Amino acid sequence: MSNDVVLEVKNLKTHFISSKGIAKAVDGVDFVLRKGETLGIVGESGCGKSMTSLSILRLIPSPPGKIVDGEVLLNGKNLVTMPNAELRKIRGNRISMIFQEPMTSLNPVIPVGEQIAEALRLHQGLSKKAAWAKSVEMIGLVGIPSPEKRAKQEPFQLSGGMRQRVMIAMALACTPEVLIADEPTTALDVTIQAQILEIMKDLQRKIGMGIIFITHDLGVVAEMCDQVAVMYAGQIVEHQNTAELFKNPLHPYTQGLIGSLPKLYEDQDELQIIEGTVPSPYDYPEGCRFAERCPFARSICSEKQPDLIQYDEESKVRCWKYTNEWQVSLTKELVTT
Ligand SMILES: Nc1ncnc2c1ncn2[C@@H]1O[C@H](COP(=O)(O)OP(=O)(O)O)[C@@H](O)[C@H]1O
Ligand SMILES: [Mg+2]
Repeated sequence: MSNDVVLEVKNLKTHFISSKGIAKAVDGVDFVLRKGETLGIVGESGCGKSMTSLSILRLIPSPPGKIVDGEVLLNGKNLVTMPNAELRKIRGNRISMIFQEPMTSLNPVIPVGEQIAEALRLHQGLSKKAAWAKSVEMIGLVGIPSPEKRAKQEPFQLSGGMRQRVMIAMALACTPEVLIADEPTTALDVTIQAQILEIMKDLQRKIGMGIIFITHDLGVVAEMCDQVAVMYAGQIVEHQNTAELFKNPLHPYTQGLIGSLPKLYEDQDELQIIEGTVPSPYDYPEGCRFAERCPFARSICSEKQPDLIQYDEESKVRCWKYTNEWQVSLTKELVTT
């Protein structure tokens, strides 16, 4: 494997174990992230996107959550088994996260500039003065006017868009190798969203960090991501480069997601919608987890779970349609009818 891989996730399984049973929120996820690359993770609400990203930094509420299997390798070092003290040096330093709700990572009663400076002192060992100067610089860099003044203000004195930028400034202050952004702009209006995405891309070009970008918005994926992993019911069902995914979506679920996008320049009487709902993580069906919503499903689909297979050099898909077994089952049906 090429050595510009920064993060590799292998067979990651995060389950929630309670008296209600076992919820397999993340159920065997694999991907690699390369330096300077943006990987999008898309899929309907509840399919395991956030739990995948929180598992990377072991931020799952535990109990009831538990990483029951798999590895998360940062430059080859496994974060799943790493001692807590060592992992704390990685969080917010070599791997940073930004969330939809900035107040989950900002302290409401400390001036924002001090919060960023604190991270810089802790992780980069900067002096008080140098950390403050860098903090103000970062606040300016994410496009907040009068950064010296804003740095001294507490989060409530800033607008929602500014708080989001402060969180990005904090996440990027220590020049992480990996940035995990979980629906970072969903709550913002379109103009501010576009500005923030531009800032992230710009800083990525400067720092060369890998970004994991979680969203349910395929428009944002097209704009931001080099690669896309489509998640369904705790698993990746398709992984392609972005251009190819939109041109030739392989999995019927991806086809459904793309078919449900409004097309601006084509005659389109009605949007297709994917009928039905995501199965409960407590009780996945035996076969393909998408089978009961799938327009192509045949008997094999509800009998056995398909693997995520290599479709071509760059693309992977988890669907019986692309296997020899599918051809065999078609032939059998032709013979018997
Ligand atoms: N504390 C919990 N206990 C049980 N199940 C949970 C808990 N937190 C999350 N889950 C389950 O994990 C699954 C994945 O959730 P999540 O990763 O947040 O989805 P997404 O980010 O894709 O919307 C959901 O089906 C949810 O029910
Ligand atoms: Mg989520």
